[in-house]
Amino acid sequence: MESLSTIIVEHAERVGLIKLNRPEAYNALSRTLIKELLQALKLFESDPSIGVIVLTGGDKKGFCAGADIKEQSELSFVNAYNQDYLKDLNDGFFAIHKPIIGVVNGIALGGGCELAMMCDILYASETAKFGQPEITLGTIPGAGGTQRLIRAIGKSKAMHMILTGETISAKQAEAAGLVAKVLPAEQVLVVAMETATKIASFSAPVLAMAKEAVNEAEELGLKNGLHFESRLYHATFGLEDHAEGFQAFLAKPKRAAQWA
Ligand code: HXC
Repeated sequence: MESLSTIIVEHAERVGLIKLNRPEAYNALSRTLIKELLQALKLFESDPSIGVIVLTGGDKKGFCAGADIKEQSELSFVNAYNQDYLKDLNDGFFAIHKPIIGVVNGIALGGGCELAMMCDILYASETAKFGQPEITLGTIPGAGGTQRLIRAIGKSKAMHMILTGETISAKQAEAAGLVAKVLPAEQVLVVAMETATKIASFSAPVLAMAKEAVNEAEELGLKNGLHFESRLYHATFGLEDHAEGFQAFLAKPKRAAQWA
C-alpha cells in the first residue's frame, strides 16, 4: 500500500487494525481518508492471515466527526450530486466478507456515526457520543444515517436524533441496541481486540456465511430470510471445517477444532 497520511494500519494475531488518524480535524472523512480506508479494508480482506478487521479512531480525537465540512463546503449541487465517494464507502464495506468491529472511542458524528454503523459489531468507550447533527448544517445524513439508524434503534429514537441533531451517550446507544458493549476508555480497544482475536480463531468461511446471513435479514422479509439462512446452513455441511468442528466436539475427550 502507498504511504498513508490519514490512517494507521497495524497487524495483530489474525486481526487487522485500522486507526483513523486526522486528529487536526477529528478524523473527518476527507476524500483522501476515505480512499485510504477503502484500500486498507481491501488489503485486509484479501490477506488470508487476517480473520477480523477492527476500525477505530486514533488516541487523540475520538472516532470521527463526519464528512469533512471544509471540503464539502466547496461543492456545488452538481459536484455533490456527481461525487461517488459516499457510494464508494458504502460499497467498500458491503464488499468485505470478514467481520468488522468498530470501536467508537469518543465522538461519532454525522458521517462518523454512519461509518460506525457500517461496521458489524460496535464497542464504545464510556465517553463516546453518537449523533447525526447534519440538520444543524442545513443538510441531512448522506452515508446511510436515515436508513441504518432506524434499523438499529427504531423510528422514534432515529427521528429524534436526526431531526434535533442531539447526541446520545454510549450508555443510551447500548440500551437502544446500537452498541454491543460499553467499556472504560482505556480498556475498550484492548477488549475489542480480544473479541476480534476470538472471532478470528473460528472458521473463516463459516464466519463469512454467518455475517452474510445476518446482513441479509435487513434486506429480506422473514420467510425469504429464513430460506436464505437455511441454504447457507446446509452449505456449511460441505466444508472441511464443518466436519472438523463436529468431530472435535464428539471426540472423547472433546478436543479443540483445528480450522483449515
Ligand atoms: C472538518 C472539522 C470537522 C469536520 C471538526 N473539525 N469537525 N473539520 N470537518 N467534520 C475541525 C474544526 O474545524 C477545527 O479545525 C478542529 O477540527 C477542532 O474542532 P473544534 O470545533 O474547534 O473542536 P471542539 O470545540 O472540541 O468540537 C469538536 C466537535 C466539533 C464536537 C467534533 O468540531 C463539531 O461539531 N464538528 C462537526 C461535527 C458535524 O457537524 N459533523 C457532521 C458533518 S456533515 P481548526 O482548523 O479550526 O482547528 C456529515 C454528512 C455526512 O457528516 C455525509 C456522509 C459522509
